[in-house]
Amino acid sequence: MSKESLSITDNRTGKSYEIDIKDGAIRAMDIRQIAIDEDDFGLLSYDPSLGNTATVTSSVSFIDGDKGILEYRGYPIEQLAEKGTFLETAYLLVHGELPNKDQLENWETDITHRTMVLENVKKFMEGFRYDAHPMGMLVSTVGALSTFYPEAKNVQDESVRLEQTIRAIGKVGTIAAWAYRHTLGYPYIYPDNDLSYSGNLLNMLFRMVEDKYIPNPVIERAMDVLFILHADHEQNASANTMRAIGSSLADPYSALAGAIGSLYGPLHGGANEAVIRMLEEIESVDNIPKFIENVKSGADGVRLMGFGHRVYKNYDPRARLVKEMADKVFEVTGRNPLLDIALELERIALEDEYFIERKLYPNVDFYSGLIYQAMGFPVEIFPVLFAIPRTVGWMAQWSEAFGDREQRIVRPRQLYVGERQRDYVSMKDRS
Ligand code: ACO
Repeated sequence: MSKESLSITDNRTGKSYEIDIKDGAIRAMDIRQIAIDEDDFGLLSYDPSLGNTATVTSSVSFIDGDKGILEYRGYPIEQLAEKGTFLETAYLLVHGELPNKDQLENWETDITHRTMVLENVKKFMEGFRYDAHPMGMLVSTVGALSTFYPEAKNVQDESVRLEQTIRAIGKVGTIAAWAYRHTLGYPYIYPDNDLSYSGNLLNMLFRMVEDKYIPNPVIERAMDVLFILHADHEQNASANTMRAIGSSLADPYSALAGAIGSLYGPLHGGANEAVIRMLEEIESVDNIPKFIENVKSGADGVRLMGFGHRVYKNYDPRARLVKEMADKVFEVTGRNPLLDIALELERIALEDEYFIERKLYPNVDFYSGLIYQAMGFPVEIFPVLFAIPRTVGWMAQWSEAFGDREQRIVRPRQLYVGERQRDYVSMKDRS
């Protein structure tokens, strides 16, 4: 019978070691024993960008990047997007199981009653400049919540963690909507408890002078589905940031602010904004071949935004669902003229050797921006719309870490390649 272990011979010393394999992994600490002599620190593994290192065990979401599978707590994303709601999915991610009827009602009530944000927070937000980027406003305002809820720092208390989770999911939509209204110079709109999570968000984003905002059901459902698709995605850059900050036992709002900051970058949650800017720059289907040539030659570091993924080496299942939904949305909003460029780009890229060889397929962001744009959102708000549902995954993963006794403060190692032990040189002697 084969043994679940790895035999390693250190050719520097001739010594052999047997390292256990569990769940398809070896423990990095097990190679520390491999040393030249007693003074040697021991072998490290070098993994810039953590491309082949698992830092946690998790049961929140599962990805098979080669097959293009995404599951939340074991449920395929396709089924949740077809049959579920965003808040039901949020319950699943946070609690681990789908809610029964009473649990769902209580959960919805709990979150709905946390959508209100203190007036001080509103005043604080009003202090931003008229042209502040809404993502910058979101980062700082969410971080500032720790000053309003000081009990949040009792992170070892499970009930405190759940309370902050409900609060964060409730309030992030309101803060996001207010950041958007701020950029328009419009008054902030208070939440409406009669509406669904997505319906209320649309209310806070779009309501003008009407007494009661009635969301369009197709748009409301589309938002809900987009939120389901963006709710979690295992150990990406922002989830890793959330966990790293949380590992020092900082309060969750400080950790959330860090996670949102990580999401902000164009290689992560900022990609849907970058996709629209790219499509606008391409301008017409005729310019696509030249653009693709630029991407392939690496000229000016141009990339096909919305394509490629560290984990998916197949079509991102979320991209397929978003693409399907786009048609339904466009029936209400009118067709986004950039869609033709996107479809043609995808067609050409999927047939091109460069993209095939590198297994570059559309990711979730390739089509989501087109939908948001057709709904009337400016590109600056796209990453904010990503951060709202992802708050669920961040909070679920942050809380999960407290149940894992192996988790300690995150403290990677480095391979130092700089100078050593130099004598201080006085200013007059420096060249
Ligand atoms: N366009 C052109 N070439 C690409 C692209 C792209 N979008 N993505 C990767 N490549 C190429 C790289 O140039 C590299 O080629 P090489 O081997 O000849 O040097 C190869 O494919 C591997 O790329 P890496 O950068 O090593 O892949 P990595 O896993 O680090 O990057 C990432 C993943 C950041 C998503 C990358 O594919 C990318 O920049 N995509 C565009 C931005 C984007 O859409 N981000 C959203 C990700 S999904 C999300 O966060 C929700």
